[in-house]
Amino acid sequence: MDMVYRPRRLRGSETLRRMVRETRMDKSSLIYPMFVAEGSGIKEEIPSMPGQYRYSLDRLPYALEEVSRAGLHSVLLFGIPAEKDEVGSGAYARDGIVQKALREAKKGFPNLYYITDVCMCEYTSHGHCGILHDHDVENDATLRLLAQTALSHVEAGADMVAPSDMMDGRVAAIRELLDENGHTETPIMSYAVKYASAFYGPFREAADSAPAFGDRKTYQMDFHNRREGMKEALLDLEEGADILMVKPAMSYLDLVREITDAVSIPVATYSVSGEYAMVKAAAMKGWIDEERIFGEMAVAAFRAGAQIYITYAAKELAAMMDDGRIG
Ligand code: PBG
Repeated sequence: MDMVYRPRRLRGSETLRRMVRETRMDKSSLIYPMFVAEGSGIKEEIPSMPGQYRYSLDRLPYALEEVSRAGLHSVLLFGIPAEKDEVGSGAYARDGIVQKALREAKKGFPNLYYITDVCMCEYTSHGHCGILHDHDVENDATLRLLAQTALSHVEAGADMVAPSDMMDGRVAAIRELLDENGHTETPIMSYAVKYASAFYGPFREAADSAPAFGDRKTYQMDFHNRREGMKEALLDLEEGADILMVKPAMSYLDLVREITDAVSIPVATYSVSGEYAMVKAAAMKGWIDEERIFGEMAVAAFRAGAQIYITYAAKELAAMMDDGRIG
């Protein structure tokens, strides 16, 4: 057979395959999401997310110790307050759950990097991501509270804030208030391209944040739209976002690629709760190889162009990177 090109030539051994590998991963690109709750002595497994827990403040140090020992550097904190109200006051309270967690965590583990999710849905009695007017979230009234939330996180020690609410103009509002208060160096990672997705189902159980009525379709994006994703990304860039996020990850990697090609700031993607739950459930049935699937999902995100991958499987991935199963 007369063939010039034989692609198999470069697949002949593990050494060669590794030599020509195009996508390489590193633990410093991973972010591990964690849930902190009021109370004490709590390490409560989230039923639809096996291996993920809600931690009370006294248990948080043990969890951070594990994160640190796994060689991970960054966490994304979500808070579950004891009480919720119409205006989500727990989100921006000085002694809110995330604010308290930050102070504790920074004391015990100053070398970890703390990112906070800035949103109101875990704190509002109606479960929507802002202040309601009739039956919809009022955009501009919500902006002030989101900015206050971000500021209270930074004052409590957050290294970076990540608004996930999908209100128009929130990046600019947060940037302005942070700057006014001297936090010009605190980056904003915007959940810029966030779709209204069923993949968030397990998270809403974890954070007890399902909307009491309706859905989030008036603020989160319609997943049929690609060009609108670019619009959101470019708007957040203009407003001063330092990192743009695409969420969910697995079913939205077309957006990761496109946005990475279009902008010069880092792009992150969030492998959300439903992605994790599907893998765990199938693995528990013995139907798939959990670790290899997590590995492929992560590589795919980086291959699509992401520089940062937020995942509940961060510890598993770190272990796989350590012994060279992926990398
Ligand atoms: C808050 C928020 C959500 C997630 C991250 N931040 C839930 C939502 O928008 O309904 C989802 C994360 C996940 O599913 O893992 N708005």
